[in-house]
Amino acid sequence: MESIVITIGGSVILSEDIDVSFFKKLRILLKKLSKKYKIYIVAGGGKTARNYIKIGRELGFPEETLDELGIGVTRVNAKLLTEIIEISNKKIPKTTDEAKKLENPVVVMGGTTPGHSTDMVGAELAEKTRAAKLIIATNVDGIYDKDPNMYIDAKQLKEVTISQLIKQYGTEWKSAGKNIVIDGPALKIIEKTRIPTFVLNGKKLDEIEKAINGQKFNGTVIKI
Ligand code: UTP
Repeated sequence: MESIVITIGGSVILSEDIDVSFFKKLRILLKKLSKKYKIYIVAGGGKTARNYIKIGRELGFPEETLDELGIGVTRVNAKLLTEIIEISNKKIPKTTDEAKKLENPVVVMGGTTPGHSTDMVGAELAEKTRAAKLIIATNVDGIYDKDPNMYIDAKQLKEVTISQLIKQYGTEWKSAGKNIVIDGPALKIIEKTRIPTFVLNGKKLDEIEKAINGQKFNGTVIKI
């Protein structure tokens, strides 16, 4: 059975307006997809993680500790998802190797170690499980030419090359809570492993399904 890795941004899991119906629909979609694919989900930390990081930074905590605060939040979000998805693991794996060993049809995890975001965890997990696809589910419709949350004239890119992204964002980890499209360490793995990567809006569950099934979807394809 082919594996698919989906990273779900914390902003998708815990949006301003708590939407219970989203979780119910997600549960149905994952049950359906798990008949065809082994699904791995990596939960992000979003605004809650950034709030903890902001407090810690103002108190002068070292970067590594700030990352650890973020990791804690991603694991709480992962725990929430595992309780919603009956067919998933209930204990949150701390490494991608641990996640790989789990036999549940859907495996959910959060962050691992400091120095990157959950994008990199998703890319690493995709590499280790030889996944057919990496889906990056964020809170906007893919990658734009500039931040769509800040500029109303930002244009969605239907496709972008990995070298363009690396040129623009680099491959280094900048700082805890850094809110960029895909983190540098993840770009590096995507480039090396040539894993087909798709960026889309995680709130739009139909688009996740279309991208996984190889249909035309609203989002960005990363060309290797
Ligand atoms: P996220 O992966 O949620 O980062 O991890 P993000 O960029 O805020 O993503 P969205 O908004 O959810 O899409 C939150 C923070 O936790 C730390 C980092 O500081 C990151 O910015 N973290 C997370 C790690 O250090 N290691 C991990 O494996 C995961």
